[in-house]
This record gives sequence, structure tokens and C-alpha cells, in this order.
Amino acid sequence: MKVPALIALALPALLAGCASGPSAEEQAAMVADARKASGVLIQTLGGELKTALGEKGPEDAISVCKVRAPQIAANVSKQFNFDAKRVSPKNRSPAGVPDAWEAEAQAGLEKRLAAGEKPETLDTWQVVATPAGKQFRYAKALPVQPLCLTCHGGPAKIPDGVKARLAAEYPLDKATGYAPGMVRGIVSIKRSL
Ligand code: HEC
Repeated sequence: MKVPALIALALPALLAGCASGPSAEEQAAMVADARKASGVLIQTLGGELKTALGEKGPEDAISVCKVRAPQIAANVSKQFNFDAKRVSPKNRSPAGVPDAWEAEAQAGLEKRLAAGEKPETLDTWQVVATPAGKQFRYAKALPVQPLCLTCHGGPAKIPDGVKARLAAEYPLDKATGYAPGMVRGIVSIKRSL
């Protein structure tokens, strides 16, 4: 079949346009935004967690993680036009299961940590093709700090009251046994392009 000359010329250009995705500048801007967004999420949640641990004790602080963490993630998503959440291969929340990209991203960050990178600055990103179109994906490591151990440490670090609450509310909990400096999970950020 004879393809009209104009289409024959235009088609490769159109396809090339589709395949190239966002420019380097656009990607850099999204990464900067994702870093800001994950920073806001981490700072806000960390602040509320510290206050609750100090004022109400660890058992009541569990509700900050359960109720406030998803709300803070939703607010940050709205503010930055992202879809932001926390996930972990050893999830506590049933909503915290990573997808394939997230699991691979965290494994990659853990390798970089083992190779000597600082846990606080570990992040990664990629523009991926999905059946629904291109997507910007970003992952930032959540390193375990001493304060996390009250609820994510080994059995000796978790007070009995907290153990009982966690057992009651999260019967399938996998998120214990951590030590400081390990990657507890990631802030995962997505944007459809
Ligand atoms: C007071 C107890 C408590 C403390 C302290 C705490 N967490 Fe959690 N964490 C939880 C609970 C409860 C959940 C499940 C939240 C939910 O139901 O959405 C959770 C969930 C998470 C998740 C989401 C993935 C998953 O496993 O479901 C991450 C990531 C996480 N915590 C990281 C941390 C880090 C990092 C720290 C320290 C900076 C920390 N947590 C401190 C109780 C705590």
C-alpha cells in the first residue's frame, strides 16, 4: 500500500516525539518537586510522631502512623500534584505493599547504602512507560532512626503495650526487627505525564 508522503514523513517524527518523553529540564524540575514533597511528608510526619511520643506515649503514637500518615501523604499529593505514599517490602499496613517498581527501587537504594552512600540522601527516579501512558516515578529511602525502634525494632526494643496494640491492629505485621541505619521503606511518588 502506498503511504501518502506527508504521513510517511510525519509518522516517524510523531513516534519519536512520543518516545522521547519529558525533556531533561522537565525531569529535573519533577525530581526537585519530588524531593520537596517527600521532605514535607517526612518532616510533618516526623514532627507529629515526636510530639505524640513525648506527650502521649508510644501506644497512642501508633494512631499518628495509622491515621495521620495517610492524611499527610494525601495533603502532600494534592499540594504537589503527585500521588505520594509510604511502602515497604516488610509492610505493616496492608496498604503498604510495594509494586514491582517500588520493590526494585528500594533494593537498588539498599545496594547503594551497602556501598557507602548516606542513608538520608538516598533517592532514585525514572520515567516509565505504562499501558496508560508515561509516568514519572520517584523513591526516597526512609532510614531507621533510634526513635523508630519503639515500634519497628527487635522484640527487646518494643514495649509490651506497643506489642499488644500492634498484634491487635496489624495481625500480619512484618515491620519489626529493624536496626538504626537500615532502610525501613520508601516514600513513593508518582505522576502521570
Ligand atoms: C508509635 C509507633 C511507630 C513509630 C515510632 C514509627 N512507626 Fe512506622 N509505622 C507504625 C504503624 C502503626 C504503621 C502502619 C501505619 C498504617 O496503618 O498505615 C507504620 C508504618 C510505617 C511505614 C509504611 C509501610 C508499612 O510498613 O506499612 C513506614 C515506611 C514506616 N512506618 C517507617 C517508619 C520510620 C522510618 C520510623 C522512624 C522515623 C517509624 N516508622 C516510626 C508505627 C510506628
